[in-house]
Amino acid sequence: MKLEGKVALVTGGGRGIGRGIALALAAEGADIAVVDTDLVDNEYNQYGVVEVHGFEAAQTVVAEIQGLGRRAMAVQADVTKWDQVQSMVQKAVEELGRIDISVHNAGVISVMPVEEMTEAAYDLVMDVNVKGVFLCCKAVIPQMKEQGGGKIINTASIGGKNGFATLAHYCASKFAVVGFTNCLAKEVARDNITVNAICPGIVRTAMWDLLADLWKQPGETVEQSWQRHLEALIPQGRAQTPADMGALAVFFATNDNVTGQAFNIDGGTELH
Ligand SMILES: NC(=O)c1ccc[n+]([C@@H]2O[C@H](COP(=O)([O-])OP(=O)(O)OC[C@H]3O[C@@H](n4cnc5c(N)ncnc54)[C@H](O)[C@@H]3O)[C@@H](O)[C@H]2O)c1
Repeated sequence: MKLEGKVALVTGGGRGIGRGIALALAAEGADIAVVDTDLVDNEYNQYGVVEVHGFEAAQTVVAEIQGLGRRAMAVQADVTKWDQVQSMVQKAVEELGRIDISVHNAGVISVMPVEEMTEAAYDLVMDVNVKGVFLCCKAVIPQMKEQGGGKIINTASIGGKNGFATLAHYCASKFAVVGFTNCLAKEVARDNITVNAICPGIVRTAMWDLLADLWKQPGETVEQSWQRHLEALIPQGRAQTPADMGALAVFFATNDNVTGQAFNIDGGTELH
């Protein structure tokens, strides 16, 4: 196992891609702090079609990880709140001893053309997707410096390199994560900390359940809409999985020479 004795923290780890990353790191031997929240209560995070019980879900993921023989803990934190992010790092270090790998994956989406976009929708996407990444990086860097190094992995998106109509705020937030990742990588390079971003393609999570639902054509089911999108957008004709994102996280977590990169894992997808 490549990560035996290491400790990882994963935000948005209660479900979807975060859960896949947490399980992949644990399968390689890492102990895991699974961070999520039940306390974000707004229509965008509820996605209209799924209820978010992130912390409850994080506790289930903890049990799965413990089943693999690793130590794991659930931490409730809203990544947009500095006090909660600071105490998230503190709790993880108190219980698991250190943080070698910090995965900043919590994210939200909503869909609307710019003309109809509300300030609230824009602010929420920016807050969680960009400020959340910033606060988590800010909180974990002193801990990593004290330990002599670490690996930071931010979740961006293929939407962080290409625009997609009705997702201007979301794409802007992910372009920001790509830029932030590249800058920070240079800032902490001499501290033995690498900073990279995962750019997922199309993964069937609660997020894509929402998109497939909103982008249905008349008479189409969510399932048919999902199939149509993945066939139209992904050259390989099949979706990515949370486990695929986990494999890239393991690569970043085990490589000392790759930093500042935003790596697509998307089956060749071109957003259009
Ligand atoms: N699903 C995709 O195809 C896809 C593609 C590209 C990028 N992404 C990105 O991957 C990441 C994970 O997305 P997903 O598809 O697994 O979505 P998801 O909705 O299934 O999971 C997101 C998790 O983040 C948590 N979360 C939301 N706001 C939070 C906050 N303020 N503080 C703490 N936790 C919070 C949610 O509770 C949830 O558990 C996101 O950053 C998303 O933008 C997803």
